[in-house]
Amino acid sequence: MTNVPTDLVGQSLGSYHLERLLGQGGFAWVFVGREPNGTPVAIKVLKPRYAGDPQFETRFRHESETAANLDHPNIIRIRSVARSGEHVYFTMDLCADSLAARITREGPLPEPEILKIARDVCNGLAHAHGQGLIHRDLKPDNVLIRSDGTAVITDFGIARAVSGYVASTGVNMTIGTPHYLSPEQAQGRPLDQRADFYALGVTLYKAATGEVPFTSTDWFELARMHVEDPPPSPRKKRPDISKRLERVIYRCLAKHPDDRYRNAEELLGDLIDVEAKQRPTQEIGRPPAGSREIQAIRAPAQSRLKMWLAVVGFLALIAAVVILMR
Ligand SMILES: Nc1ncnc2c1ncn2[C@@H]1O[C@H](COP(=O)(O)OP(=O)(O)OP(=O)(O)O)[C@@H](O)[C@H]1O
Ligand SMILES: [Mg+2]
Repeated sequence: MTNVPTDLVGQSLGSYHLERLLGQGGFAWVFVGREPNGTPVAIKVLKPRYAGDPQFETRFRHESETAANLDHPNIIRIRSVARSGEHVYFTMDLCADSLAARITREGPLPEPEILKIARDVCNGLAHAHGQGLIHRDLKPDNVLIRSDGTAVITDFGIARAVSGYVASTGVNMTIGTPHYLSPEQAQGRPLDQRADFYALGVTLYKAATGEVPFTSTDWFELARMHVEDPPPSPRKKRPDISKRLERVIYRCLAKHPDDRYRNAEELLGDLIDVEAKQRPTQEIGRPPAGSREIQAIRAPAQSRLKMWLAVVGFLALIAAVVILMR
């Protein structure tokens, strides 16, 4: 069995041809491949250490198949889940980019783009949460971007396969990074869909500032920070993001799930609100410097003139009546 992903490049898995390695996470490699009809796909192959464990394979396949039933434009489409010889893999739509790669390349993103990506992710979450599925490992690497700019969530349920496996076997295995872990996950407490809003909050924080709110090389220290420390202000790091967006991020990052958004629809409502309040200045453009102040001075002066004209007219009327009555 191969232990390095490059050995698989140029090989076939089932009816898929593997062309190049895209990247790797804690327990799988991701390749660019092709279906027999030439359609490019992404192929996620379990690393041999895990593919060789029947219990892990069962969990992985079960969660992949559950995720494959999620049919939504903002959730990656899983095309097949299979085993070929010693390799366990699933295939999915190939995306042009990931949010993680974009932030690495371009640094913090413009606010309108952050809001658009947040809305897409939120729509995907609303659908999955409606089906009773929690992501548990939302982060910029798991937010992919299609060539038309649509954001799609990937790796739904995979974290559940891993954590369930760890719980039942005691095997120490961490997925990805603890930078996006909710306080309740850090404490090993039961969680619901609101853990995904915390991870989305960290993701938006990263997209807005280029940094995550908490960093430490020590896993336990990082977990403590998620549980206890208030996140540093995103606007201190990036003053041009709006107070409204900062408020949304803070609410997602609340330590207690009760202080976060209750559901994806509520969060979506706030995101749409932030976007709507931004639009007037973006679409019409800012007024020339000082014109607002000029308007503010002019408007009361004009209405004062109207009032005086009315008073003078009224007095003239009374005077005319008095003269006529004499
Ligand atoms: N369908 C896809 N299209 C394009 N890129 C993808 C696709 N799926 C995964 N990737 C990219 O491949 C890389 C490896 O993904 P993978 O899911 O294995 O690891 P991860 O999400 O970084 O970490 P982990 O899975 O350990 O939490 C990531 O950078 C990810 O963005
Ligand atoms: Mg991933």
